[in-house]
Amino acid sequence: MLDFSARLLELIKERRSVRIFTGEKIPREEIKKIIEAGIWAPTGCNNQELRFLILDGKEVDEIIANFKPFFKGVSTVVLIFCDMSLPLSKMYVKSKTAKHLCFIDAGLALANMILYAKSKGIDSCIFNISEHHLSVKTRRSLWSKIKRILLCKLGMRRLLDESFENYLRKRLKIPNHLKILCGVAFGYAKEYPDVRKETHGGKPIMRKQVDYYIIDYPRTEKYQMRY
Ligand SMILES: Cc1cc2nc3c(=O)[nH]c(=O)nc-3n(C[C@H](O)[C@H](O)[C@H](O)COP(=O)(O)O)c2cc1C
Repeated sequence: MLDFSARLLELIKERRSVRIFTGEKIPREEIKKIIEAGIWAPTGCNNQELRFLILDGKEVDEIIANFKPFFKGVSTVVLIFCDMSLPLSKMYVKSKTAKHLCFIDAGLALANMILYAKSKGIDSCIFNISEHHLSVKTRRSLWSKIKRILLCKLGMRRLLDESFENYLRKRLKIPNHLKILCGVAFGYAKEYPDVRKETHGGKPIMRKQVDYYIIDYPRTEKYQMRY
């Protein structure tokens, strides 16, 4: 029998991003517990600014079909937001050095959530929102084509009408004070990725030995060769 910390490390390593689920629905109470795991993650300055939207109705299929067509059988999508009405959130957004803090907070909450979910036999895949655009090809007017080119050139792709973020805002009537940070799909795995074989983004999902990721500072020969 493994002790708790050894089992925890095993669970961390066993978790995979799953994209093909059975379609079976996860009870709301389970999702609420997953979110409870998320809210106990640390937040910068104890801001506790994260807010969670649970989607488990027909809008899940619509969102997945439009933006994540290679995900199948998702039960529930949870969207994570930063409450921008809080004084600290407002301060952060104006600060060059602190405006990323809510994304760090969301990452920590997500880590708690996906690990707790895994411990309950529920699988997940985190997905990025801001950079994704409608995969459905639509005929565009000349003006919308020009607008698209201009916004892309200005680095303002997220303002495109069909951006994932804008779509969610309109479809779900998200109030302006909630800034969308990230999404995560939950379900019961139908196909579990084989860590020994699968790749994503052009590289194996298998991790190398831990020493590979540790920067061997002070500057040894090995350090200089690698960096
Ligand atoms: C911030 C973030 C965004 C991600 N976005 C996507 C996504 O849009 N689509 C997707 O299929 N996987 C997405 N993933 C999952 C990663 O591809 C996955 O974590 C990576 O391939 C390693 O696999 P593993 O989670 O099974 O270890 C995302 C993960 C993170 C942390």
